[in-house]
Amino acid sequence: MNYIGIDLGTSGVKLLLMRGDGEILKIVSREYPISFPRPGWSQQDPQDWYRETIAGLKELLSGSDKSQVAGIGFGGQMHGLVVLDEEDAVIRPAILWNDGRTAEESEYLNREIGRETLSKYTANVSFAGFTAPKVLWLKKHEPENYARIRKIMLPKDYLAYCLCGVHCTDVSDASGTLFFDVENRCWSDKMCEICGIKKEWLPRVFESYEAVGTLKPHLAAELGISEKTVIAAGAGDNAAAAVGTGTVGDGACNISLGTSGTVFISTEKFGVDGNNALHSFAHADGSYHLMGCMLSAASCNKWWLEGIIGTKEYDEEQKKISGLGENHVYFLPYLMGERSPHNDPDARGAFIGLTMDSARADMTQAVLEGVAFALRDSLEIARSLGIEVARTKVCGGGAKSPLWRKILANVLDICVDVPKNEEGPSMGGAMLAAVACGEYASVKEAAQAIVKVSDVVRPNPELAARYEKRYQQFKQIYPVCRPLFQQLK
Ligand code: XUL
Repeated sequence: MNYIGIDLGTSGVKLLLMRGDGEILKIVSREYPISFPRPGWSQQDPQDWYRETIAGLKELLSGSDKSQVAGIGFGGQMHGLVVLDEEDAVIRPAILWNDGRTAEESEYLNREIGRETLSKYTANVSFAGFTAPKVLWLKKHEPENYARIRKIMLPKDYLAYCLCGVHCTDVSDASGTLFFDVENRCWSDKMCEICGIKKEWLPRVFESYEAVGTLKPHLAAELGISEKTVIAAGAGDNAAAAVGTGTVGDGACNISLGTSGTVFISTEKFGVDGNNALHSFAHADGSYHLMGCMLSAASCNKWWLEGIIGTKEYDEEQKKISGLGENHVYFLPYLMGERSPHNDPDARGAFIGLTMDSARADMTQAVLEGVAFALRDSLEIARSLGIEVARTKVCGGGAKSPLWRKILANVLDICVDVPKNEEGPSMGGAMLAAVACGEYASVKEAAQAIVKVSDVVRPNPELAARYEKRYQQFKQIYPVCRPLFQQLK
């Protein structure tokens, strides 16, 4: 049978049709707008997600054997707040994961309620992008909208609701709300109390590989597929990407170079980073994971090349780069503030170290390196917890660049395993659907059968040593700039 994975991303939705044995039959992408109504704010219209997903499904299925479609699963941008009224109508645009408007609410939770209390109930502290501070923001700034809330949904779960009519979420995505008791994989009554929300506003929680329902008959007819098509819960995009790259089992690591950049470390047992700099979330395979998330990764490269230089020739620009490990220009990639490890919505991007002979290629290189250094910040925290990460998978749009993969391997000083395809979340969504339909007994079994590594990028000791020096310098830049960023507000 065939399975569909839907990755509801920030810049667009990617849909993937997978044969039961893991062969990718077709991939379709469709974009939708994102609005930044104020600096540091970011919103999207859930109706855009739905419209483009349905159009994408039609495009994906055209020319294929529709009778073979057995299930649909998701990967989705995490933490976004979608609020529904009593008619299940969307109340206002969704506030996204990289929106920094909730600095005050997040501060209130961490200071007044206290980091220890939050960590005890949810395994995490508050970050501006998480869902709970967004709900508090809405209560204060848009009381008329808040009063209409009957359901609080996450982005991909709103899509699942539209497809099958069930208010659902999965454990990995629920983990990023700060309403979720990660260790026990259920909603936290205490957190509902602290935030003053009704528990019935929260959707039913499923494991990521569980079936939530079946496709609504009118959609089945419109798409030409069976009414029995299973809708699987799916996972937050990082957990789905981990499934798609076979990142299951203790210590397995995946780095995603998408709009955000994440270091995802799978753990069999529940565990919390004592300083809560890394998120402690449920994994889509039934276990747990630790994760560092930077808010702007491949998006820094896109901003620099398309927005500033004005080119879409990514390969051409990267060909001009020479002298790896010798760049005198540094780039702080905090264009939307930063989550891990600084938890600072006021952090900003910066080029440092420019001289009269700095060239465009040095700056392009600095952007790629700045993202790699910032990912290393998260990896260093994992290392300080005694977690040995010997190698990592890599996925996301940025992972297509051989140069960026080489920089990453040498900055992190670990082997980078390149999966046969870099379609992390959409592949993971399709694999979760295959497990929900019984094609595989477990997520682990699906990953073992499906995921293949096509290339390994090994660090070069001499280059890694050069990057080590550069990283030690990079590390000193943010603490110096931080007080300035506070004043620039
Ligand atoms: C993870 C996070 C991002 C989004 C991007 O915590 O906020 O990776 O999920 O879609």
